[in-house]
Amino acid sequence: MNETYFDDSRFDGGDDMDFENRIVSTAYTPGSDEAEVSLRPRHMEDYIGQDKAKENLKVYIEAAKLRGDSLDHVLLYGPPGLGKTTLSNIIAAEMEVSIRITSGPAIEKPGDLVALLTNLNQGDVLFIDEIHRMPRTVEEILYPAMEDYAVDIIIGKGPSARSIRIDLPKFTLIGATTRAGQLTTPLRDRFGVLLKLELYTPEQLALIVKRSAAILGIPISDDGAYEIASRSRGTPRIANRLLKRVRDFAQVQRKTEIDAATAGYALDRLEIDELGLDNTDRRMMESIIKFYNGGPVGLDTLAATIGEEAITIEDVYEPYLMQLGFIQRTPRGRCVTRLAYEHLGMRPPVPAQAPGDQLQFFDEE
Ligand code: ADE
Repeated sequence: MNETYFDDSRFDGGDDMDFENRIVSTAYTPGSDEAEVSLRPRHMEDYIGQDKAKENLKVYIEAAKLRGDSLDHVLLYGPPGLGKTTLSNIIAAEMEVSIRITSGPAIEKPGDLVALLTNLNQGDVLFIDEIHRMPRTVEEILYPAMEDYAVDIIIGKGPSARSIRIDLPKFTLIGATTRAGQLTTPLRDRFGVLLKLELYTPEQLALIVKRSAAILGIPISDDGAYEIASRSRGTPRIANRLLKRVRDFAQVQRKTEIDAATAGYALDRLEIDELGLDNTDRRMMESIIKFYNGGPVGLDTLAATIGEEAITIEDVYEPYLMQLGFIQRTPRGRCVTRLAYEHLGMRPPVPAQAPGDQLQFFDEE
C-alpha cells in the first residue's frame, strides 16, 4: 500500500528532531530555570497530582518526625518533567531540614561524593538527580553511606596505604531517575521508599496551569487552561512552558484573557495538535508506518531512521504515545496501533487473514 496517505515533504530535513529544541521537550529550557523555580510549589498541600505517592509520603514524613528520626532513603522514578526535584524540595521543607542538590553525572570522583556527604548535617536531604548516571566507583561509596552512615577512605599509596572510616550524620538520600531499571540491584535495594511518578491527567494539569497563571498574573479561563493542559503530554514542565508561549500570542493579539480559542490558535501555530503531539511524534509514527509497515521495528533501527537517540525515544517520546495507545512495545520491537493510523488520518491496514480463512466451506443446506 503505497498510496499517498501522508505527506513525504515532512520527511526532508530532520533538524527539528533535536529533543532540546522542541517546544514540548521535557528538558529544562536554558535561562528559564529561575522562572520555573518560582512556579514550583513549596509545600505538599500546593503540590497537585501524584496522589498515591503524596499520600504515602505524608505518612512516612509524619512517622519519621514523630520518632524524631530522619526519613528513610527515597527513590523517585518516572518520565522527565513530572516534578521529582520539586517533590524532593517539598520533602526537605516538610522534614524541616536542608537539601543539597546534585546529579549523577556531576559527581565524577569518589572524593566529590565524600565532600558532599561529610558536609551534611543530621537529617539533611542529599538529592541526586539522574542517579543512574553516577560512575560505578562513586556508587560504591554510597553503599556504606546509605546503610551504615559511614564512608571508608584510603589514605596514602602502596604498602603504607590504610583505610579509615569517617562517620556521617544520619541523612536522607533522595535519588531521582527516569530509568529505575538501569539502577544496579545493590543501589536499588538500599532505598527504603520507592515512588513512581505518573503522567498527569489533563484535569490535574489544568489546575497546575491555573495556579501558574495566577502566580505570573496571566488572566486565563477554565477552558483556556484545559486547552493548554490537554496538549501538554501529561507533563507540568511542558504545561508551564506552553502557558508562557500562549501568553505571548494573547498579548500580541491584545486579548484580555486566555480562553480556549486563543490557546487553541496559539498551539496550532506551534504545530502542537489537540493531543499534544508535535512534528517529531508524528514523524516517528509515520516512519514506522512508511518504512516498516506499522512495525514491529527494533528500537535502535527506529532511532537510526529518525535520527534520534534510542534513550530519548524510550524516555521522552514513548511514555506519552504509549499512554495514548498509539505505540506498543512488543518483544520484536515497536508497533503503531490502529488508533495511531486514525489520528494521523491514514487508513489502517486490513488485518491479514490466516490462509485457511479463505478456504472455509460451509455445508449447504
Ligand atoms: N508546578 C509544577 N508541578 C506542579 C505540581 N505538581 N503541582 C503544582 N504546581 C506545579
